[in-house]
Amino acid sequence: MKQEIVKCETTDLFVCEEEEEEEEPKMCELDRAKTYKGLVGIYVDDSFITFIDGVQGNLYYRGYPLIDLVKNSNFEEVAYLLIYGKLPSKSELSKFNDELIKERNIPDNVLSILKSYPRNTTRIELLRTSVSALSLYDPDDYVFTEEANIRKGIRIIAKIPTVLAFSHRIQTNLPLIEPSEQLSHAANYYYMMTGKEPSKEVEKAFDDVLICHADHSINSSTFSCRVTVSTLSDIYSGITSAIGTLRGPLHGGANERVILAMLNEIKKKENVIPWAKKKLEEKEKIMGFGHRVYSSWDPRAKILRDLSKDLWNKWEKGELIDKIPDPVHEYEHGEIGNIFEMTEMLTEYMIATKRIYPNVDLYSAGILHILGIPTPLFTPLFAASRSAGWVAHAIEQLSDNKLIRPRLRYIGELDKNYVPLSER
Ligand code: COA
Repeated sequence: MKQEIVKCETTDLFVCEEEEEEEEPKMCELDRAKTYKGLVGIYVDDSFITFIDGVQGNLYYRGYPLIDLVKNSNFEEVAYLLIYGKLPSKSELSKFNDELIKERNIPDNVLSILKSYPRNTTRIELLRTSVSALSLYDPDDYVFTEEANIRKGIRIIAKIPTVLAFSHRIQTNLPLIEPSEQLSHAANYYYMMTGKEPSKEVEKAFDDVLICHADHSINSSTFSCRVTVSTLSDIYSGITSAIGTLRGPLHGGANERVILAMLNEIKKKENVIPWAKKKLEEKEKIMGFGHRVYSSWDPRAKILRDLSKDLWNKWEKGELIDKIPDPVHEYEHGEIGNIFEMTEMLTEYMIATKRIYPNVDLYSAGILHILGIPTPLFTPLFAASRSAGWVAHAIEQLSDNKLIRPRLRYIGELDKNYVPLSER
């Protein structure tokens, strides 16, 4: 198929040279003697959802360049595109928006358990547990048709911001803010978290971040989701698995660590290089840099870099006044430098010394911070956005399912003698 040929020519660093001429290119014969640790470079299935051109640094959702979607679309339309595989008509989008709005509330029982969670729990753990609990109240819990899976998927996408906003406000002793029926997905999410309706500028910036995180092919969390549904388990289990996987600092947890490093350790421009040098000398990874599939710039980082520059320039001039004051940052104002500028210094240093490029988390962290999003909600925000991709992938997996079950190469001893407990 044409689509597969394009895919192989542009991205597959692992395709045999001589196979590029063949009508249907296929992967090099797997070397049975080799273990593909971390599944690096292994295709586990075909997909029509997202195309990553890791060499040129381009990203496409359902064939549309991400940059065009960021410029022209919004999160709801992108979620529709990912799930249904096409851009919606006006009436389709309007129906989809209505469904999302209708599903924003969460059952009282889930709210009760949110209130009962320990107060020092991370928001992403609260989300993982709550999404699992939501399945128990879904009228389609035991219906497994594609239509029912889409209905469940829409409910998950719509309810995650409410779960996050409620759990955060419960944890910080703030009054809960009920979802609005008038606001867009991004604006409502922002409103429920912060208690303030965003200006158009803040809404657009927040929406851009959501779009940039909505899908990224078979990243670790999406892989988890597809593995889970490939057993013919349910979509809630798939997304619960995905959230657990996303939590790790090598994946979705990186954005929180970027901002914490900026606020608590680096603080000022003059500290950037000594801080980075020390980290590298101590063989520590610098969060927000490096990526399994990009050999240079992550296209999402490029898009968010421009947005971050714009927002931080305005902050510098005192223009971005319609944001929510972040108590920690406002308190430290003057002690913390311009985060975009510090990020740029770090980028320049990492590229020059290690040839390691920024990923999406580096710039999203500075943007979310300046928009006044509480730091503990950074990683969960990634999940809120990626839920659209997870739903699309669960549905694609089930449409042509093959149980995902790779192998491990056993390298231990065999035929050992069992020694009875009394003799050990
Ligand atoms: N800081 C410093 N060194 C880094 C680095 C980083 N952020 N990312 C990669 N490297 C170095 C590794 O130390 C390794 O060096 P070595 O070969 O001398 O040991 C080399 O680059 C390859 O890294 P590796 O972790 O094996 O590559 P990977 O493909 O498995 O990892 C990531 C990709 C994303 C896990 C990795 O780049 C990383 O840990 N980044 C930081 C976390 C992050 O920002 N995650 C969000 C991703 S969107």
